[in-house]
Amino acid sequence: MPLVSMRQLLDEAAKGGYGVGAFNVNDMEQIQAIMMAAKETKSPVIVQASRGARQFAEDLYLFKLIQAAAELNPEIPIAMHQDHGNSFETCKSAIELGYTSVMMDGSLKSDGKTPSTFEENVEVTRKVVDFAHERGVTVEGEIGVLGGVEDGHGAGGSGLDHITDPDQAVEFAERTGVDALAIAIGTSHGAYKFTKKPDGSVLKMDVLIAIHKRLPKTHLVMHGSSSVPKDLQDVVNQYGGKLKETWGVPVEEIQLGIRNGVRKINVDTDNRLAITGAIRKVLWETPEKFDPRDYLKPAREAMKKVVAARMVEFGQAGHAGDYAPISIEQIAKGYKDGSLSTRPLVASK
Ligand code: 13P
Repeated sequence: MPLVSMRQLLDEAAKGGYGVGAFNVNDMEQIQAIMMAAKETKSPVIVQASRGARQFAEDLYLFKLIQAAAELNPEIPIAMHQDHGNSFETCKSAIELGYTSVMMDGSLKSDGKTPSTFEENVEVTRKVVDFAHERGVTVEGEIGVLGGVEDGHGAGGSGLDHITDPDQAVEFAERTGVDALAIAIGTSHGAYKFTKKPDGSVLKMDVLIAIHKRLPKTHLVMHGSSSVPKDLQDVVNQYGGKLKETWGVPVEEIQLGIRNGVRKINVDTDNRLAITGAIRKVLWETPEKFDPRDYLKPAREAMKKVVAARMVEFGQAGHAGDYAPISIEQIAKGYKDGSLSTRPLVASK
């Protein structure tokens, strides 16, 4: 199956009332782990690469690996997404490579660190939308600023520093025509999100619900959504790691989000922890081993287990065969003739 438009994947998820995990990749084993999980659970899936990942793996290696995944798994709809594009040029290069979706993170300036103004964000995101939609490519925008740093991208600080304002979210969706909207509700990238189990007072689910009420048809995106489970932390620490005690986003909160318009859920850290724990275990228990396959195979298996669990928890499991993919050319036509709407439905307050 050719790579699928993320817009189609999310529209289908909205129809089915489920969420779709977007899993970050840097190498072949991570891509294989995701595809093994998608195959096992019969899930459509979003695979995403940050700028750091594209640099680490070299664009072409990574993209050819994704194409191989699509060719080897014709029954699985796969969208390939640029995570946190920092500029028009970054998004353009991903689109020209063949990505079917890009995130223009205009919440930060192009240094990927400094919060931008609302007008700057609208302007650059709108420019990416025009370029992408002409080519049938999906666009995710961000309003409000996530906490933490991932692959050198991020404002740092707490996820509570720049919570999304629902009025701005409405205006942003109307003026940019994005297909999906990432909002800041207190989550942050990386392992160190919360120093205690987050309850309703920490994670701003009320803000998410308020935005969904105003934008009932807009696909919302939750970044920084790793759950950082204690068992994964424990494996890392048991075999020589030094992780400090930390809490992630409880799966039940994500499921509450999914019932309120969240369609894309970004997960990276949990997979990193699973891989690192599995590799540490092999090297700790059998220090005589030196064939990378001896630790990469269990690492791949450990990541597959986490991804498969999330696919079931987010509800995407079992939905791979629900629909036939629409070609990217057809999607481009849809944007042009208006059959694929880019005007959000806005409900009054
Ligand atoms: P985590 O660090 O919580 O996995 O978040 C990943 C993410 O949001 C990628 O954009």
